[in-house]
Amino acid sequence: MDGNGRWARQRGKPRLAGHEAGAETVRCVLDYCRDAGINYLTLYAFSTENWSRPQAEVSGLMTLLRTFIDKYEREMIERRVRLRVIGRREDLSSSLQQALARIERATATFDRQLIVALSYSGRSELARAARRIAEEVKAGTLAPEEVDEAVVAARLDAPDVPDPDLIIRTSGELRISNFLLWQCAYSEFYVTPVLWPDFREADFQAALAAYAVRDRRFGSVESGTPCAETVRSKQEQES
Ligand code: IPE
Ligand code: MG
Repeated sequence: MDGNGRWARQRGKPRLAGHEAGAETVRCVLDYCRDAGINYLTLYAFSTENWSRPQAEVSGLMTLLRTFIDKYEREMIERRVRLRVIGRREDLSSSLQQALARIERATATFDRQLIVALSYSGRSELARAARRIAEEVKAGTLAPEEVDEAVVAARLDAPDVPDPDLIIRTSGELRISNFLLWQCAYSEFYVTPVLWPDFREADFQAALAAYAVRDRRFGSVESGTPCAETVRSKQEQES
């Protein structure tokens, strides 16, 4: 979700106004995902590096987050969306941690998932996984020669969430910025110049349409399931 600051600057508004407008886009995108039969949406809301922003912006973002979850807690339950947090949640204030844990518990049985990356970076997630492995090796419950890709993957923050099929980046930046470094190995990328607060259904559909014509070979030579078929069958399942 990139471009909130530029959106605000273009309008002569404070950066926080951009973040507020961006929060509205989050609500809309949840609807688009539901309508398209997409069951997992991960939002990169706040990176470990974002703590280095001016203190006023950081606290404004935290307040916005708190307002957002207080406002939509009931809606998430009604819409049967499971909320999960990935990242260093211990960096967040204890009241925010408690609020997030409460929603996670209340929505834990729902199938459609909204994963929010907070104080997240791919490198820190991988370092956490390495630490968990080291602890298990030290405890004698895991042998070094048992460590393989599956062992690492199982120690990520949300190990049961499938790797993303599609990663959308708004605001035209052509970089990964430490997002899901392990999980993005074979994700399709889609970059749009549209700023996050302006991102709406037509932009979302354009991303899905671009994805639908990608040929995913996963390093092999044969085509796998054409993306278009995957998109269609998901939409059929939903309707
Ligand atoms: C992304 O928008 C939102 C967060 C990082 C929370 P930015 O704040 O990065 O917007 P730009 O890049 O300054 O336009
Ligand atoms: Mg940015």
